[in-house]
Amino acid sequence: MLASGNGSNLQAILDAIAVGRLQAKVEVVICNQPGARALQRARDAGVDTRCIPHRDYASREQFDQTVIAALEAAGVEWVVLAGFMRVLTPAFLRQFPHRVINIHPALLPSFTGIHAVRQALHHGVKVTGCTVHLVDEGIDSGPILGQAAVPVLEGDDEATLAARVHVAEHQLFVDTLQRLANHDLIITRDAVSGREIASLRPR
Ligand code: GRF
Repeated sequence: MLASGNGSNLQAILDAIAVGRLQAKVEVVICNQPGARALQRARDAGVDTRCIPHRDYASREQFDQTVIAALEAAGVEWVVLAGFMRVLTPAFLRQFPHRVINIHPALLPSFTGIHAVRQALHHGVKVTGCTVHLVDEGIDSGPILGQAAVPVLEGDDEATLAARVHVAEHQLFVDTLQRLANHDLIITRDAVSGREIASLRPR
């Protein structure tokens, strides 16, 4: 798992594994921000951690190569981004084709980017939510694996809405990862849009 900040989604996944609700193993947590709470959460759960500060690298490519090497050393099958605030290079994605998963705090394709909750509020939508998707070379644009809706309530501000979205994220992330554990991932292309579509077939 890659994280940059608080790591509440990381915590939800670690907790779900601990109680047997998610059949998965977190081999390593890699963080680009020294001091991020996500690192401490991982250590507290007994998970291996690596801190790889992106500022130590002259280029995005060099940073990504270091992260790739750490992931390969850990023998990971999937790469799960949980609040990882760096855009990955095409070389990184080629290393893990259709194997990088992200969670985004909006119902994609609406409200991409880092201010998704604020945008939803400013747009006046009555329902927003969260999306778990495969990462491709665009921004928050890869094939969708799962979504959950969250109502926008009268009087919501960014903090109250973000908190409600976070609660939904924690459940959606665990549920989607467990579905991935139980299913084969099938990638097809929509005939009209040409977009890649992800679907899951029971094993
Ligand atoms: C989440 O809202 C997620 O959708 C976004 O970054 C946030 C991470 O929160 N990609 P946390 O660090 O898991 O608490």
